[in-house]
This record gives sequence, structure tokens and C-alpha cells, in this order.
Amino acid sequence: MKSGKYYNEVASYYDDDAKDFEQRYEQNPILQIIRESFRRVTEKFPFNTALEIGCGPGFDVEYFADRYPSRKFFAIDVSPGMIELTRKRCERANLNNVQLGVGSVEDITSVFPDQKFDLIYVYFGGLNTVFNLEEAVKHLEQVCTEDARLVVTFVNRYYITEIPLWLANGRFDKAFERITNKWRGYSDHRKIPSRPYSYGDIKKAFNPVFHIGYKRGYSIFYPAWYRSHLLKKLGNKAGTFWKLDKFLSKTPLWNSGEYSLYEMWRKKKDLVKARREYDR
Ligand SMILES: C[S@@+](CC[C@H](N)C(=O)[O-])C[C@H]1O[C@@H](n2cnc3c(N)ncnc32)[C@H](O)[C@@H]1O
Repeated sequence: MKSGKYYNEVASYYDDDAKDFEQRYEQNPILQIIRESFRRVTEKFPFNTALEIGCGPGFDVEYFADRYPSRKFFAIDVSPGMIELTRKRCERANLNNVQLGVGSVEDITSVFPDQKFDLIYVYFGGLNTVFNLEEAVKHLEQVCTEDARLVVTFVNRYYITEIPLWLANGRFDKAFERITNKWRGYSDHRKIPSRPYSYGDIKKAFNPVFHIGYKRGYSIFYPAWYRSHLLKKLGNKAGTFWKLDKFLSKTPLWNSGEYSLYEMWRKKKDLVKARREYDR
């Protein structure tokens, strides 16, 4: 498949998703608590010019641009429908420090020419749907300042607790689709050309340019966002599972949940150059 056709498919999927995306999010406490945690990590260090990739309907552009009015925010999304929702959201909030554009990672330099970013963040797996992750990283490198930081989150390839849950429901196909690289999104009805990534995949793609620092796993034992009905059943235990996941994030099990968050720092230029010469 060519990249143009690939991104048309991704955009069409998310244009459709945009119709009730906000409504579904507002009703999902798991997505809200995870987003809150992503934001805390993102805000840990100062930045001036941020780019969000895969901004969806703009929950986080609105949050950050409103909270930091003297900083600049840029957001890109492959889905025109999502960007339209973000535009409306920013207008309603009267934000004048936001610029938006339609496109994928490969388009950042043409959508926001001559712009560099000292923070790039991606929430809830916008980079699981890139044509080629290693190429995407090269595009990120071009738009990063020397001291840039990334906060990027990915849908994981190895989601271990999910396997027995699907097997208990008689869904052998679902239980192993991530591991066998057959995962094509969450829906049974509509497929998206996406790929879940293991830590090994992430290291291979990002290591040439970025140093991977803080890492955290989500929904290792705490329910995944699409099992939010379990929260009621779990009652107080849900909080315990959330804390357990936080603890497990410091162990070898950290990458075995539904999502992983990676904080990365751009490596110094001469190091990157030396590594490329060595690899040649
Ligand atoms: C799961 S949604 C998350 C939306 C938003 N970040 C949030 O947290 O609500 C993924 C978003 O990434 C966008 N997206 C997917 N692949 C992309 C790509 N290659 N480049 C830019 N945006 C992409 C989709 O259109 C969608 O809006």
C-alpha cells in the first residue's frame, strides 16, 4: 500500500470516529484518568512551543493553551473532521495561541513551515497509525529544537492480562491478534491499518535520535478504557489496581499493559552524527 492511500484510510476512519468521539470520551472515566496522568508527565518540565500530533477533537490543545496563555501551541491531525472539532473547541474557548493543520507526521514541515518545537506530545496512540515509524521519527527530528522533549504514548503489542480475558469470552482471535501483529484497531466492525508496538520496536525507531527516559505502563491490571463497565464491579479495588500499575511500571512488567508512555529527549547532534557514521 502507498502512503497516500494508507493515510486516506486512516483519515476516513477517524472522520467517522469524530462524529461522536467527544460524547464517548465524556462518558468514559478511564480515558479521563489516564489523560490526566499523561498531562502531569507532560507538564513536569518547562517548554515554550508545543506540537500535538493526532490531537483528535482537541481536549489537550484546549487544556494546555488555556493554562499557558503565553506559550504557543500547534496541533496536527490526519483527520479533517477531528481538526474541525479542535478548531470549534479553541474558538469557543477564545484561544489565540493555537495553530492547527491537517496532515500526518510527514507533513509537519509543510503545514507549519520553519517552525521548531521544544515539546512534541502524542496521546492515545496517534503514532500507531503511521506508514513507517522509523521514517516518522526522521520527520520528528527535523522539527525538534536541540533540547526538545517528546511525551509519546503507544498502544502496546504485548498486553498480557488481556489474553485470558478474551479467552474467557471465547475470543481466540482477539486474544492473540496483537502478538501476531494482526491487530487492526479496537472495533470488530471497522478495521484501521494500525500496528501495536513493543518497547523493542520503539527503541529501534527512536534510539538513533532520542534518548528514552521515563517510561510508564497503563492498564496493566487496571481495566482498559474499553472495559469501563468493570469499574463499577471493581468498586474501591479499581484504585488499588491503578496504584498497582504505577508500581508495576517500575518493574519488567511495565510494558505489558494496554498503553505505554515514553518521555524522550533529543540526543546531542554530534552523538547522532557519530552513530550514523558508525552505522554506515
Ligand atoms: C485515538 S485518537 C486520540 C485523539 C486525541 N489525541 C485524544 O487524546 O483524544 C488518535 C488521533 O490521532 C489521529 N491520527 C492517527 N494517525 C495519525 C497520523 N499518522 N498523523 C496525525 N494524526 C493521526 C487520528 O485522526 C485521531 O484523531
